[in-house]
Amino acid sequence: MDSLHIVGGKRLEGRIPISGAKNSALTLLPCALLTADKLTLGNLPRLADVDNFSHLLNGLGASTKIAGVKKGEFGRRMTLSAREIASTVAPYDMVRKMRASILVLGPMLARAGEATVSLPGGCAIGDRPIDLHLQALEALGAEIELAAGYVKATAPKGRLSGGEYSFPVVSVGATENALMAAVLATGRSQLFNAAREPEIVDLCNLLVAMGGKIEGIGSSHLIIDGVEGLNGCTYDVMPDRIEAGSYACAAGITGGSIELVGARPHDMLAITNALAAAGLVVEFTADGIRVTADKPLKPLAISTAPYPGFPTDMQAQFMAMLCMAPGESFLEETIFENRYMHVPELRRMGANIDVCGRSAIVHGVERMTGAQVMATDLRASMSLVLAGLCATGETEVLRVYHLDRGYERLEEKLQAVGATIERRTTG
Ligand code: UD1
Repeated sequence: MDSLHIVGGKRLEGRIPISGAKNSALTLLPCALLTADKLTLGNLPRLADVDNFSHLLNGLGASTKIAGVKKGEFGRRMTLSAREIASTVAPYDMVRKMRASILVLGPMLARAGEATVSLPGGCAIGDRPIDLHLQALEALGAEIELAAGYVKATAPKGRLSGGEYSFPVVSVGATENALMAAVLATGRSQLFNAAREPEIVDLCNLLVAMGGKIEGIGSSHLIIDGVEGLNGCTYDVMPDRIEAGSYACAAGITGGSIELVGARPHDMLAITNALAAAGLVVEFTADGIRVTADKPLKPLAISTAPYPGFPTDMQAQFMAMLCMAPGESFLEETIFENRYMHVPELRRMGANIDVCGRSAIVHGVERMTGAQVMATDLRASMSLVLAGLCATGETEVLRVYHLDRGYERLEEKLQAVGATIERRTTG
């Protein structure tokens, strides 16, 4: 099992290339199921979840071919081809490992007229139901049955009809499934209160490049006119705003200066505004964004919200950084009910944090100390890496597989800006 060993206290300075967005890649990959043509995706991050997703697609009949990558090059290019859908079943074993597997439901249903996908169940950060995915697909004409832990969706007469659905709460995943299903329906669909995350815009842009007809891209009202078929294309995954934000926090917590090469400022305003409010200097450069901490951090009040609000995926990393801000910071998690699993581990490193339900108060401390720590999810693990970068002594972060799901070559990128961090494999 791998662990990361970090010796804290180094000021980080330099440039970090930002990889393709995990959350975007995992919604662009299932689009391969929507066409018999080849789909080539570039700037795909090299992540365990991308590999898992391509195995899932292989099981459904899609071939996946990775173009050669040069040594030291980040990202990769994959050509996917689903000439025929060989199976319409996404098994429990796959979905259990990776929640995003649920995103094959909409495209399989749209292309093959049926889809059977294991229900994902709970996860470390909360209950995470899929009722809205199913309601949206029903509104587009699907018939849904739940049995033996699986959801079976069928399009009567083999094709969805299209329809209207208003999301009672903003859901990124349900908006994605509904979009991928609606593009091949016979009629017009309208989605109200749809998610507006940049990753949804990336999905819409790919679907349009494949011949889909979508209006309202970037807004919460999406109008989709179904088409007879979609074509293949070549498309690059957008840069990862959460990875960029995480390394910005690394600059903040170490009093450093990092240029996030390739980061797109307009996708990240809630994050860059919060960084600036915490006292960091944020500059939009020709290559991306430079974040510099040249004075003590300031405490903040942050509440997570759907885009364009402050992302839930940045809450844990900001919490780690705010441990080093003198005074009291207030955090509220409005998206998930159980997303403070990093708090007990941060406390073991000397953090002073009170949690009450979905709210947390971070009392700034003068220093944190290295410890053996482990987290139960991806972003929580990153918050421990950040704490380790500024802690006195050595921090060992266990269960690195969480980080490997979402941060491409994490230790390499951090070493390049001066961090003392290495991966060790035991047993
Ligand atoms: C969510 C985040 C996304 C983040 C991802 C991984 C939001 C709006 N979504 O996306 O930014 O990248 O987690 O951390 O910030 N819900 C239901 N029924 C459903 C679907 C969702 O009740 O069928 C609820 C969820 O429990 C949650 C909220 O809606 O409280 C938003 O969930 P959703 O956006 O669907 O989750 P993800 O797509 O996983």
